[in-house]
Amino acid sequence: MTKLAIIGGSGLNQLEGMENAQQRVVETRYGTAEVTLGELHGQPVAFMPRHGEGHVLPPHQINYRANIAALKQLGIEQVVACNAVGGIHSEMGPGKLVVPDQIVDYTYGREHTFAEQGDVIHIDFTYPYDETLRSFLLASLTRLEIPHVDFGVYACTQGPRLESAAEIVRLKRDGCDLVGMTAMPEAALAREAGLAYASLCLVANWGAGLTEDLITMEEILQVIASGVEQIHQVLSDFIPS
Ligand code: HPA
Repeated sequence: MTKLAIIGGSGLNQLEGMENAQQRVVETRYGTAEVTLGELHGQPVAFMPRHGEGHVLPPHQINYRANIAALKQLGIEQVVACNAVGGIHSEMGPGKLVVPDQIVDYTYGREHTFAEQGDVIHIDFTYPYDETLRSFLLASLTRLEIPHVDFGVYACTQGPRLESAAEIVRLKRDGCDLVGMTAMPEAALAREAGLAYASLCLVANWGAGLTEDLITMEEILQVIASGVEQIHQVLSDFIPS
């Protein structure tokens, strides 16, 4: 039975080395979600490309509820989410891998909860990421001698545009170290669904205004293309044979 799911972000559209892969379209009450079930080193694993097959969905249009509900329906218990981000902290430059430990949510207008009228649920979200899963990821990064950072406050912005320089200054003042567009509501929905959730972030660029240059998609895609190999290595090590 598959207990572990990998959610792929920008640049991670499939799981390298996955065998016996079967595509599934899972129907949920929130809509459908696409998942690939298969094995890595003989271990069952589910893979879900967050932006859909072919990377068609921008961050604010992802059906986060259907994605998490589908994983729950499949009996998944642990989720490792991969996210491309901009770096704000001085140690989080392009190419660095980061396992964040906190989130500040700046998104709006997204379907962000499974709670419905009549439900009075207030999940604890003091520590948004699962410590055990984080420690597994960090152990793999250390074992593989991949330069990484073992902390970080992830600012989740609405997108799809990148930030203004003043917004990055504000995020820094707010205590944020990284900025991305996809951690929320995904992490909170996973907590509502009772799934252990952690994130492996690849820094694709410096946050807006932190260098003299403007940010180009070309630069972002280039850094992601070269960094994604390390993500595959971590995932492969993390899922032991
Ligand atoms: N900001 C927000 N999301 C991102 C960035 C960024 O600079 N880079 C990659 N995803």
